[in-house]
Amino acid sequence: METVVSGIRSTGNLHLGNYFGAIKNFVKMQHEHRCYFFIADYHSLTTHPTPEDLHNNVRQVMVEYLAAGIDPEAATLYIQSDVPEVTELYLLLNMNAYKGELERCTSFKEKIRKQPDNVNAGLLTYPVLMAADIIIHKASKVPVGKDQEQHLEMARTFANRFNRLYKTDYFPEPFAFNFEADLIKIPGLDGATKMGKSESEGNAVFLADDPGVLRKKVMRAVTDSGPTQPGEPKSQGVENLFNLMKVLSTPDTLQHFREAYDNATIRYGDLKKQLAEDMIAFTAPLREKILEISADKDYLRRVASMGAEKARESASKTIKEVREIIGFKPF
Ligand code: TYM
Repeated sequence: METVVSGIRSTGNLHLGNYFGAIKNFVKMQHEHRCYFFIADYHSLTTHPTPEDLHNNVRQVMVEYLAAGIDPEAATLYIQSDVPEVTELYLLLNMNAYKGELERCTSFKEKIRKQPDNVNAGLLTYPVLMAADIIIHKASKVPVGKDQEQHLEMARTFANRFNRLYKTDYFPEPFAFNFEADLIKIPGLDGATKMGKSESEGNAVFLADDPGVLRKKVMRAVTDSGPTQPGEPKSQGVENLFNLMKVLSTPDTLQHFREAYDNATIRYGDLKKQLAEDMIAFTAPLREKILEISADKDYLRRVASMGAEKARESASKTIKEVREIIGFKPF
């Protein structure tokens, strides 16, 4: 049995990328390993949500975790800010995290580009907080999508550096993990190679989208004017639709449209209609559960307090031991 940790930032509704890149693995792992899954609300402050949005976003992610099949009795499901021990470990790790390596991080460079007026220190040290999230439970496996690979590499750097500095083997090395083979990246509908919360309007399909919204989004997805001869390479937008079909549709459906593309008889309207229906078939039961769980305030309160208690038990043990290793002593 291994210890598993992963989190999702609380910035609103979850999309298909979150599901296939992360939650699908969480559900599979929760009965086999010691799992900690959390809602990263401290991390969400790096983009400055308003106090009115913060709680609802956390709540929505909690509801969607549960709707997607996380069993709060099997896994520890908690809210990051309910475990303040994380912030102490973050502070301690920050003492050995260097400005240069943080500035080189791809996600930091991307954020500078996206929010040039808000390049805060929380963004710079985002990977340090993430490392603290992971190693506070001494995790070795971290189920995440491809976009988090570099953050995991940094988490290993910080864990190893702590061990080296204090001549210990206290922290295990955490590795990014995906059940099937490689880490995955679900593309967007707008031609971008990644589905993401902060991408353009038509990019993401949310688990809570109703069929009407979803059909509209898919029908507007970026394509091209179509292949004119057999064997033509696919444009990015079309490639994206095929990649979405690969995870959502049956192998026969995928094969049918691949052949139609290859012999240049494809009609993108047909492909989109089929993809939209397969997305609806996949998300409809999730959406139903989202609505049901969302109405059950008592249940959500119970889940949050049970998770906080279990997560703090593990986190406070680590902090106590880390303080001893570093040399803090009671008088
Ligand atoms: P976040 O909230 O952006 O995404 C949550 C999870 O969803 C995955 N994901 C995707 N996977 C495949 N294709 C996509 N298009 C796609 N979009 C998102 C992400 O890889 C991630 O697994 N920094 C993290 C949250 C975090 C965390 C942690 C994760 C904070 N502390 C500790 C693991 C361990 C984030 O912003 O993920």
